[in-house]
Amino acid sequence: MPSMSHPESRNFNQNQKFNGNTTKNDVRDDYFVRKQRIAQQRSSLPIAPVEKRILEEVRKNDTLIIVGETGSGKTTQLPQFLFNGGFGRDGKVIGITQPRRVAAVTVAKRVAEECGVELGQKVGYSIRFEDVTSSSTRIKYMTDGLLLREALLDPSLSRYSVIIVDEAHERTVHTDVLLGLLKNVQNARSRCTNQQIGLEKDNNGVLLDKENNSQCLGLLKSCQGKKLPPLKLIIMSASLDARVFSEYFGGARAVHIQGRQYPVDMLFTHHAEPDYLDATLITIFQIHLEEGPGDILVFLTGQEEIESVERLVQERAQQIPEGSQKILTVPIFSSLPSEQQMQVFRPAPSGFRKVILATNIAETSVTIPGIKYVIDPGLVKARTYNPLTGMESLIIVPTSKAQALQRSGRAGREGPGKCFRLYPESEFGKLLDSTVPEIKRCNLSNVILQLKALGVDDITGFDFMEKPSRMAIVKSLEQLFLLGALTDDYKLSKPVGQQMARLPLDPIYSKSLILASEFNCLEEMLITVAMLSVESIFYAPREKLEEARAARKCFSSPEGDHLTLINVYRASVECLEKSKRANSKDRTTERSLSKWCKENFINNRSLRHARDIHSQIRRHIEQMGLLVASCGDDTLQFRRCLAASFFLNAALKQPDGTYRAFASSQVVQIHPSSVLFRTKSDCIIFNELVRTNHNYIRNITRIDPLWLLELAPQYYATQN
Ligand code: CDP
Ligand code: MG
Repeated sequence: MPSMSHPESRNFNQNQKFNGNTTKNDVRDDYFVRKQRIAQQRSSLPIAPVEKRILEEVRKNDTLIIVGETGSGKTTQLPQFLFNGGFGRDGKVIGITQPRRVAAVTVAKRVAEECGVELGQKVGYSIRFEDVTSSSTRIKYMTDGLLLREALLDPSLSRYSVIIVDEAHERTVHTDVLLGLLKNVQNARSRCTNQQIGLEKDNNGVLLDKENNSQCLGLLKSCQGKKLPPLKLIIMSASLDARVFSEYFGGARAVHIQGRQYPVDMLFTHHAEPDYLDATLITIFQIHLEEGPGDILVFLTGQEEIESVERLVQERAQQIPEGSQKILTVPIFSSLPSEQQMQVFRPAPSGFRKVILATNIAETSVTIPGIKYVIDPGLVKARTYNPLTGMESLIIVPTSKAQALQRSGRAGREGPGKCFRLYPESEFGKLLDSTVPEIKRCNLSNVILQLKALGVDDITGFDFMEKPSRMAIVKSLEQLFLLGALTDDYKLSKPVGQQMARLPLDPIYSKSLILASEFNCLEEMLITVAMLSVESIFYAPREKLEEARAARKCFSSPEGDHLTLINVYRASVECLEKSKRANSKDRTTERSLSKWCKENFINNRSLRHARDIHSQIRRHIEQMGLLVASCGDDTLQFRRCLAASFFLNAALKQPDGTYRAFASSQVVQIHPSSVLFRTKSDCIIFNELVRTNHNYIRNITRIDPLWLLELAPQYYATQN
C-alpha cells in the first residue's frame, strides 16, 4: 500500500447526497425539478454576477480575454450570455472551440438542456466525423481543428460574428494556429467594414494589398462585398497567465472571474512508486474504505490504461463486504462514444461511490460535479517530435506543475477535498512550471498543409504565437514534398495536395487513401485507416492472457497487422449482418456484436468508434470522387500500396534481429503485440513508434524492399 506522508485524518462534510432512481410516475415532476435545479445551479456559478459586465466589455472590445477557474461557468454560460445579449440574432453564429471532442459534445448537450432546446437546433456541435448542427444553430461548439477546416472553405469565417477560443491555456497545436489565423481574419474583416480595404488594382487589373500583407490578401478578397460584421474574438483560459494572450493580441483587455476554491489537502507518497497503476488501485480502495463520502477522480494516461484499471477495480470491488457502499466506475477519454460520455455527469445511484477514470481531459476541459478526492499519479501522455528523425511519438511524461495544480484543484470545487499525489513531495519541485506548447513538440506537416491550403505560403513568416523551430518546419515541408503534396517550389500541388488538405486526416493517411484508389484497394485502406485511428482494438486481461492470444490468432494474417485489423473489421461486419438478418431490432444487433467482441477479446468501444470513422471518411472519399474498390484476395496489391504510402516508415532487419528505420536510422523493435513479433521479416513498414524503454514500432506489415525503390523513387532512388 502506498504510504501517505500525511497521516492526519479529517472530518469531511457529510452533506453530499446522491439522487435515488426516478420512479416511473413522476417523469413530469422530474422535468420541472431538474429545470429548477439547473436554474439554481446556473445562478450560483461564479460567472453569473458578472454577466452584464462581460457583455459590456465584449461590446466595447473586439478582442477580449476571459480568465477564470475551471468550473466557474465560462464554457457553458458565456455563449448564452452573448446570445441573450443580442449576438447571433443577425443570423450569424457564436462559435466556441474546444481542444477536445468530448468537451465539445458534452458541453453542447448540457447547454441545449439548459436552454430547453433540442440538440442540433439552436445549440449544436460539430467535431471531426460528426456534425450535429442545422441552419437554426446559433451557439455552436466545435473542436479547434474543425474550425481550421471550415476556414478552408470559408476563409473569412463569414458565418460567425463571435468566436470564442476556449481552453487557450492548453496551447494545442490547433489552438496556436487558429489564434494566428483568427488574428488575420479579424484584421481583414475590420478593414473591410471600415471601408479601408487597402486593395488597389495594378496595371494588369490584379488586386494588390497596399499594406503588403500577403497573408491577408486572400482573406480580403473573400471579405469583399460581403458586408460582414467585425469578428468578435474571445480567448478563454483557466490558468492565470493572461499576459501572453493579451500581448499577442496587441494589449487586449482581460477580465478575471473570481472563482471559488476550497482548501485541498495534499498527500504525497514517501517513496517513488514502482508500479503506478497498482498504487492507483490501492489508493482508490484506501479512500473508499477509509474516507467519508464524495466521488473520486483518477487521472490516467489513456484509454488502454483506463480500461484496464476499470476492469481491476470492478474485480476487486466484488470483495467489498455486503451492505457497505459499492463502487461505480465511469471512464472518460476523448474517443469515448457519444452516448457514454454523459454518464460521467450523472450522480451515482444511492449506495454507490463514483470513481471517475479520466485522461487529462478532466483537468480543465470538463468539469465534473461531486468530486472530493483526486488521485494523481503525476503522468500524462504527450506528443514528442524529433525534427532530426522526422518521427513523432506519444510518450508518457511527468505533468507540469501547472497541470498538477489544476488536477488537485478538482477536489476543492464544492467543499474541502483531498489530493493523493502518487509521487514523493521532493519530485514536485522538479516538474516543469508549465507544459511546453504542442506546436514546439509535434510534426508540423498537418498544420503546414492546412496553412498552404489557406493561402499562407510563407510558413516561417506566419504570425505564430510561438514560432516552431526552423528545423521542424523544414523537415515537415520535406515530408509533404515527398508525399507529393507540394510542388518543387513548395506550393500546394494540384490535385493531390488539395485533396490531401480536404481529408480530415494526417497527411500520410490522406495520401494512402488517394493512392489506394489507384491500386484498387481503397476498400481495404479505408478500413485500415479507420482501425488505425482508434486506440487498442484488442485487449488482453491479465488473468486471461492465453485465451485472448488464442482468440487473436483467429484473425491473424501472416502478412502483418494491417490485414489482421481488416480481418477483425470484416468479421465484425459479418456478425452484425448475420444478427440483422436474424432479428431486425437495432438493440439486439448491438447486443450480439458486444457479445461477439467479448468472446473475441475485441474492444467494443474502439470498434464502434472505428466504424463511425469508417463511414465518415467514406463519405469524404465519395464526395471527392475516388473509386472505392476492393483488391479481393490479391493482398499483394494492398501491401504494395502500403509500401507506396508509408515508405517514410520502412525498416530493415539487422543481423541481431532488431530493425533499423530507413528514414531516421533509428534502431527500433517490433512491439510484442504485433503478429510479426516472432516471424521477423526482412523489410517492413510500420505506422506507430511507441517510446518506452525501447523504441517499439506497432502496426506492421512485411513488404519487399524492392517495392520501395519502385514505388517511392523520389525518396529511395536518391538515398545511398
Ligand atoms: O468552463 P468552466 O470550467 O468555467 O465551467 P463550465 O464548464 O461552464 O461548467 C459550469 C458548471 O456546469 C459546472 O458546475 C459543471 O459541473 C456543470 N456542467 C454539468 O453539470 N454538465 C456538463 N455537461 C457540463 C457542465
Ligand atoms: Mg470550460
